[in-house]
Amino acid sequence: MRIDVVSIFPEYLAALDLSLIGKARQDGLLDLRVHDLRSYTTDRHRTVDDTPYGGGAGMVMKPEPWALALQSVSDASPADGRPVLIVPSPAGAVFTQQMAHELAEESHLAFACGRYEGIDERVLEWADELFDVRPVSLGDYVLNGGEVAVLAMVEAVGRLLPGVVGNPASLVEESHSDGLLEYPVYTKPSDWRGRGIPEVLLSGNHARIAQFRRDEQFRRTAQRRPDLLEGLPAGTLSKADLAA
Ligand code: ADE
Repeated sequence: MRIDVVSIFPEYLAALDLSLIGKARQDGLLDLRVHDLRSYTTDRHRTVDDTPYGGGAGMVMKPEPWALALQSVSDASPADGRPVLIVPSPAGAVFTQQMAHELAEESHLAFACGRYEGIDERVLEWADELFDVRPVSLGDYVLNGGEVAVLAMVEAVGRLLPGVVGNPASLVEESHSDGLLEYPVYTKPSDWRGRGIPEVLLSGNHARIAQFRRDEQFRRTAQRRPDLLEGLPAGTLSKADLAA
């Protein structure tokens, strides 16, 4: 997969050199390039923002540096069709695990990191010819810019690419993979500071362990995220789940 990130703080994305995503880049599974928006400015001060039409607080990102940067990303695209352009914004659709799975199928993703009050709206309209433009939010809170959201989204998508996570089984039994939160996990020692572990995990009975874990998933989800249970497709929960 190819990923391009445009930002006025390219150093923010240095964390993508680390851990599994860094290794995926080294192994050639992920071709990730970060571009400095300021290198697409043409004035002496490398200006990327200006005051908002209509007044109000804060500054708005100027359209022309964005057009030049995005044109350059589009020109270099290895994708057949329009690459997906994610614009992180608290005004976007909320990012989910399902979205991560869908994005992991793409050959080219681009990310446009806004700062200040956001990017001049005309850039998104203009970019529609070159990209499949999608404003995406990390959640219902406000960050100072898109960079932290990009770190989260690139990690969530990148770990789904074939070969990035060593044991693909670990992607199956994790939170949100089946619409529920994941079950609690324990490791040695079995007695730690006076606390034991659920007996069933020592039983060697795989069916009972699976049922225990499923019950815990359901109990946790009902307690912490009841909204997720309402969103499950009809028939997802077994009789045993409903009895738990
Ligand atoms: N930029 C600012 N706030 C954001 C959020 N909640 N999600 C994505 N990008 C953002």
